Amino acid sequence: MIRVENLSKEFKINKKYPGFKGAIKSFFSTEYVTKKAVDDISFEINDGEIVGYIGANGAGKSTTIKMMTGILTPTNGIVTVNGIVPYENREKNAKNIGVVFGQKTQLWWDLPISETFSLLKDIYDITDNDFEERMRFFKEILGLDEFFLNPVRTLSLGQRMRADLAAALIHNPKVIYLDEPTIGLDVVVKESVRKAIKEINAKYGTTIILTTHDLNDIEELCSRIIIIDKGKKIYDGEIEGVKEKYGYLTTVEIQVKEDNLESFNEFTDIKEDDEFNLTYKDNKLLVTFNKNKISSADIIGRTMKKLNVVDFSIKETSIEDIVKKMYRNEV
Ligand SMILES: Nc1ncnc2c1ncn2[C@@H]1O[C@H](COP(=O)(O)OP(=O)(O)O)[C@@H](O)[C@H]1O
Ligand SMILES: [Mg+2]
Repeated sequence: MIRVENLSKEFKINKKYPGFKGAIKSFFSTEYVTKKAVDDISFEINDGEIVGYIGANGAGKSTTIKMMTGILTPTNGIVTVNGIVPYENREKNAKNIGVVFGQKTQLWWDLPISETFSLLKDIYDITDNDFEERMRFFKEILGLDEFFLNPVRTLSLGQRMRADLAAALIHNPKVIYLDEPTIGLDVVVKESVRKAIKEINAKYGTTIILTTHDLNDIEELCSRIIIIDKGKKIYDGEIEGVKEKYGYLTTVEIQVKEDNLESFNEFTDIKEDDEFNLTYKDNKLLVTFNKNKISSADIIGRTMKKLNVVDFSIKETSIEDIVKKMYRNEV
């Protein structure tokens, strides 16, 4: 079980002055401003849970994860992971956890993946049987075979992420922290990474804490989410209510051949709806609507009847949108 109690982290940042002279002044300055990256956060996570830890850029997600993994020491409050205080007992904690930072690999750049795993086997003192069993499982769910003999530096981002996941799990940790595990991946690879995360959780009962910007990650993986904003916890609970209440607005951008769009009036019957919004921009229509009431297919279909559609894209609600709406509506 993970317990986070009144956790805060402040960073002291050298005060910045503008301009070139300012840069020199800042460099020699002893004036500091403090930045509260994490502000009095508490929660508990049970064994085997998959929890989404979400919030806008700079909300304090990574800083929280770093305190939970023992990389950073809190300014206030306490973290315990299965009774261990991570930043006070880093070595013992490391045996029980796995970490993946989507932006940064933990693998040895010049080593083939195969050797990386042999090294990890020794580092974590994994028995031959356990190692073989886990390797077989990871190769299967993450498709490691196609690049198993290649050095890390030659891998694509998606391959690297799959290898990173397996490497973080090879010692069968009780808890795994995934910080933006699908960032930059294409849709197909994202899907396979999500599937693997689910299978790992089901097979080993691994507790998973996941930060992400991708609402689809959350929808598919997490039953519970914790939302933070400016370092403070603003929501902790089921994903269901949040999605229904806040995740319903969709925007479709439709590119057409015509450029005189003012006379286009296929949406008059839904224009009454105050969540519906239509704007034009050169050859583009931007349509925002409530996806619980109207489907993207309907919007695109109506447009195609009257106009020559060249291309379209669908933009789902972002985490930022949800956080903004939460402030307006209260949860
Ligand atoms: N080492 C650091 N020194 C100073 N400020 C930091 C440091 N790490 C993070 N911050 C600041 O703390 C805030 C939270 O950062 P972070 O936890 O990385 O957010 P998130 O992961 O949610 O995007 C940001 O304003 C960031 O600039
Ligand atoms: Mg981050």
